[in-house]
Amino acid sequence: MGNSISNMSKRKPSAGSLDSSSSSDSKKLSLFQRTVRKTSWRPSLGSNSSDSYNSGHGHHQVVPSVDHGSDAHSDLSQHSNDSSTNYSHHGSSSTATSTSPQPYPRMPGSALPEWAMARMCDDGRTRHNVGSAPYMLPNDMTEADRLDAQHYLVRYVFKGNYNVKLDPKAKLNILDVATGTAVWALEMSHEFPNSQIYGVDISPIFPSEIKPANCHFQLCNILDGLPFEDNYFDFVYQRLLVYALSPSQRKQVYAELLRVLKPGGYLQLVESDGVVYNGGPQMELINRLSLETPMRHGVDPRVVQTMRSGLKHAGYANVNSFHIALPVGKWGGKVGELSMQNMRGLGNIWLKGEIGRMSEEEAQRVLDEAGQECEANQAFYKVWLVVGQKPTGESSGPSSPTSLGAVPV
Ligand SMILES: C[S@@+](CC[C@H](N)C(=O)[O-])C[C@H]1O[C@@H](n2cnc3c(N)ncnc32)[C@H](O)[C@@H]1O
Repeated sequence: MGNSISNMSKRKPSAGSLDSSSSSDSKKLSLFQRTVRKTSWRPSLGSNSSDSYNSGHGHHQVVPSVDHGSDAHSDLSQHSNDSSTNYSHHGSSSTATSTSPQPYPRMPGSALPEWAMARMCDDGRTRHNVGSAPYMLPNDMTEADRLDAQHYLVRYVFKGNYNVKLDPKAKLNILDVATGTAVWALEMSHEFPNSQIYGVDISPIFPSEIKPANCHFQLCNILDGLPFEDNYFDFVYQRLLVYALSPSQRKQVYAELLRVLKPGGYLQLVESDGVVYNGGPQMELINRLSLETPMRHGVDPRVVQTMRSGLKHAGYANVNSFHIALPVGKWGGKVGELSMQNMRGLGNIWLKGEIGRMSEEEAQRVLDEAGQECEANQAFYKVWLVVGQKPTGESSGPSSPTSLGAVPV
């Protein structure tokens, strides 16, 4: 895997250019994209309003019925209303906390306010400690490794770190919303040496001291608004907040990002709904947990299928959208191997988490079997890329995510 990461990281990011190398990975991916085009958009999660799931640790009501079709069919954000759902949104208390606040390896505890300390949960993982923010994935070093590997995966499939027209020599203000380990922001600071790159996150897992001079990181709960003035950024990037925002919070964030963008500035969103398609029974179990766990926090991962219409409703211009299929398993080459690791990392969280409650041993068994299913059935993730522009008041033509062989939604 180390090999695959370093190969990927050597790839020159190229906004606007389709990598025409005829590697077996590329061939497999495009074959795969053709396959996906034919598949139904409806994930076979088997969830509906009367569905329920017995984890063996109590009976959990599954989600209210929502239309989770893609933009082509409907706009979920128009139908979903947080206040009308029956989720018990426990905020940070829903995953039991077993010990006192924990410091972060990358930031001395003394430098942090109490709310920003991590809390240790009873699955042995730390999480953020902000009650109003529904995000339920861990923020420990294991998760940091997963996020970094995931970055290379996404960068590889979308052929670079951005997919809008930007001049690398220009002096731009660029924002990475929920920057995580800041791997994207750090790379952008090299690609755009004359620009200022800002990153914010609710967990201080970004570098605090040793970083390029044009990189600036700040602790921030984006649900409280962004600490930037209006019309400040030329480019805003937001990736993989699928488990962080309820439908109404997502709308709120779209509006906030519009506020901080300059007229004509670009927004790029990259998301996956976290479902592995074409698996088998064990993969379906993980898929169900990956839906039900966020739903308990008021977060519906399927909303990412409707980002295009969400941006249009929020007032963005020239909104354009693609999705791409990402193989899971060796059948998809090195990319598939890396996304298999990602599946295992995420799956482990769901299986041992607040609904799954499995032991490490049980979880590993399910993951092994799910992995075999993915190989046998050529399973895949779907990843969405959506771009939009802050209106200038005059028509500026379509924004231009590169074609990348991706399938228009
Ligand atoms: C799946 S990670 C993605 C990180 C990064 N964007 C990437 O692609 O590598 C989601 C990130 O969102 C952050 N996050 C979740 N809720 C947030 C909130 N309300 N405000 C700021 N950051 C948040 C998490 O701490 C985590 O770093």
